[in-house]
Amino acid sequence: MSFTVAIDGPAAAGKGTIARAVAERFGFHHLDTGLLYRAVGVKGGDPAAAAAGLTPADLERGDLRSAEAGQLASRVAAIPEVRDALTTFQRRFAAQEPGAVLDGRDIGTVICPDAAVKIYVIADDQTRAARRAAELGADPAEMLAQLRERDTRDGARAAAPLRPAEDAVILDTTAMTIAQAVAAAVALVSERRAAAG
Ligand code: C5P
Repeated sequence: MSFTVAIDGPAAAGKGTIARAVAERFGFHHLDTGLLYRAVGVKGGDPAAAAAGLTPADLERGDLRSAEAGQLASRVAAIPEVRDALTTFQRRFAAQEPGAVLDGRDIGTVICPDAAVKIYVIADDQTRAARRAAELGADPAEMLAQLRERDTRDGARAAAPLRPAEDAVILDTTAMTIAQAVAAAVALVSERRAAAG
């Protein structure tokens, strides 16, 4: 049976880095689900149609990681038809053998409510803004304003709002190095795998 790891949390908390490392450690597939919403956002036109017609090439555009693409993504992500159009792809991805790690906002709550491991990654605002600013070579104050705007929109929307699943383990990476955060996540996955036999 496949083993699904759901990693959710607000922007720039460390989800992607942790998800990639966990996938590599266990030989699991990895999907950064934010890329799907970013691709829909930058594609333009009718968002629901863009989501329904998303192609692998759309996910390879070079501009998907920009702050602007993040803002566009969070706008289209509030549209229920967009979320519905992306659900089947994500669930199929999650069911792959021997396992899959998906990171996003609603993996543990909506996409994979039965995931074997659910981790909700958080870090304080200033830390997240500083990390994202360093990554994109941008101004920390501007990043902070953008992250807050995005988190507010993601948390307030009616469709799959940003929140931890009831059975998620909260991982606060504010005072952690990347290695420490990855080690904590790997330990949790190892423990659950052993328990699952
Ligand atoms: O994680 P990332 O910053 O790439 O996500 C961009 C935006 O896509 C988020 O701000 C959120 O609005 C949306 N998103 C979502 N559900 C997911 C992943 C991302 O709504 N599973």
